[in-house]
Amino acid sequence: MLFLNLGCGWKTSDHPGVVNIDWSVMLRIRTNPIYRLFVPLLLKGDRLEHFRSLSKNIRVHNLAKGIPFPDGSADYAYHSHVLEHIDRDIAPLFIRETFRVLKPGGILRIAVPDMERNCRNYLAHVDRCEKEGSAVIAQHDATLEPILEQAVRREAGGTSTQGSLRRRIENLILGDARQRGETHQWMYDRFNLEHLLRTCGFAQIQRQEFNTSAISDWLAYGLDQDEKGGEYKPGSLYIEATKA
Ligand SMILES: C[S@@+](CC[C@H](N)C(=O)[O-])C[C@H]1O[C@@H](n2cnc3c(N)ncnc32)[C@H](O)[C@@H]1O
Repeated sequence: MLFLNLGCGWKTSDHPGVVNIDWSVMLRIRTNPIYRLFVPLLLKGDRLEHFRSLSKNIRVHNLAKGIPFPDGSADYAYHSHVLEHIDRDIAPLFIRETFRVLKPGGILRIAVPDMERNCRNYLAHVDRCEKEGSAVIAQHDATLEPILEQAVRREAGGTSTQGSLRRRIENLILGDARQRGETHQWMYDRFNLEHLLRTCGFAQIQRQEFNTSAISDWLAYGLDQDEKGGEYKPGSLYIEATKA
């Protein structure tokens, strides 16, 4: 059994058959003996601990160069909060690449921020602002944050908590949020994601919850769940599709 966890980040699975793949800056630093020398200069405190806690069970590979597995070799492919970081014109190539590596009958499971839910929450708060005025206006920006924050942010996550010298060195060496791939390039809802999957050849497109799946024994993978069994990334849209 082969299960590909593509763009795994820190959310790896040690379930038998899972291959976790990622190409984050932190992984590239960890695997490069020269870059590793800069780690104490760049990171300290919680960020250093976080870096050290990165699983060793990750294959370091740039998915922009394709998925490093033969045609029809994988039972399952999965990516969570990866698709929206890929350029809109490249996204179909990435989805077709997952189609290529899946066996006939194989399942692709995707989790993305749910644009529809985010917009509905925002519009519901517009209504509240109209009715309740100043009592709720201070919270209004919080409803815009899931839609816009990762599209406009320049500073990479966690960098601003570093001292100014570390911060400058880090930004110089590793680049800003966009250069590190942290910003969103497009957003998805149940309609454009289904359309994308169909145009890439997938069928049987079904919406799921974080804890439901057509993947057998899904909960044993520990993905889409936090340590307590709750939803790992609340507000996500979960879609599964089959290679017929
Ligand atoms: C927002 S994180 C999501 C991580 C994890 N899947 C999760 O749900 O917490 C996006 C991940 O995709 C990875 N990624 C983006 N582009 C990639 C590429 N070309 N090759 C491999 N990984 C990539 C990033 O390194 C990052 O870890």
